[in-house]
Amino acid sequence: MKVFTAISELKEFLKFGRLAAIKEGKELQVGLVPTMGYLHEGHASLLRRARTENDLVVLSIFVNPIQFGPNEDLDRYPRDTERDLALAEHEGVDAVFMPSVEEMYPQPTKTKVAVAELTSKLCGASRPGHFDGVTTVVSKLFNIVAPNRAYFGQKDAQQVAVVAQMVNDLNFDIEIVPCPIVRENDGLALSSRNVYLSAKEREAALILSRSLKQLEADVYSGHTTTVMEARQQLTQKIGSEPLAEIDYVEIAAFPGLTPLQETNSLSSELKAHAVILIAVAVKFGTTRLIDNVLLTGK
Ligand code: PAJ
Repeated sequence: MKVFTAISELKEFLKFGRLAAIKEGKELQVGLVPTMGYLHEGHASLLRRARTENDLVVLSIFVNPIQFGPNEDLDRYPRDTERDLALAEHEGVDAVFMPSVEEMYPQPTKTKVAVAELTSKLCGASRPGHFDGVTTVVSKLFNIVAPNRAYFGQKDAQQVAVVAQMVNDLNFDIEIVPCPIVRENDGLALSSRNVYLSAKEREAALILSRSLKQLEADVYSGHTTTVMEARQQLTQKIGSEPLAEIDYVEIAAFPGLTPLQETNSLSSELKAHAVILIAVAVKFGTTRLIDNVLLTGK
């Protein structure tokens, strides 16, 4: 496994790999897994999927300052390079790209990639500028690595929708591969930010996966509450947990994130839109967690 901090060296490595493949009459298939490090099983699942579908797997680890708001956790974002590299090696990664902030942003960027509409809702509403930071850094990574495929977790469902929109709008020749949410045995969605939680907060946070799972089961078993009622019930359930401070509880069509007919039943809306996203963002103490389920008209 090679570790690169310089953009030019990673590009050189990829160029050699591609030339060697061409000499054998093949096209090198490159998979990219962008992350901010402090890797866990969720990240590992993306690496594993990438490993099965590509000749070469590139993992990027970069805590991207421009996607953090002024009062967010950039300074305390957890890091453990040694453990990350061991996990990457274990998952058969070929190249790790871990640039410094100076390497990625030698000067403050004057160019930003911004996706409209999709980014004004859900996390975009409470984290202004966040998705512009994501699409800008992801564009840079796409240009540096030029992968055939890039792997993103449905844990950040809005991020998947935004990146897919960007790739489509800007003709990036890259397949976006969404991967399912990986959870702890008790249901908590894995997140690098879970380390911030106290034992009590972690226990309280189980309300998210429990209530989402319950709503999902209700819809699939034919309970036909309206969209409005479903949102109210979910809000009430999560709100009943004393340590939970709700940022949002949203139900929207996926991936367009367009609103549903509030007075229609969720199951009839599911027939109208093939996929519906139920997404929540909730603070426990100072830690903001997100979780979601995707309902499909199966
Ligand atoms: P990060 O939070 O490190 O997540 C990297 C990737 O891992 C994302 O695609 C995320 O959705 C996925 N992931 C995180 N937890 C997961 C889980 N429990 N199950 C499945 N996948 C999971 O998302 C980012 O970094 C950044 O915004 C980035 C795209 C790297 C741009 O800076």
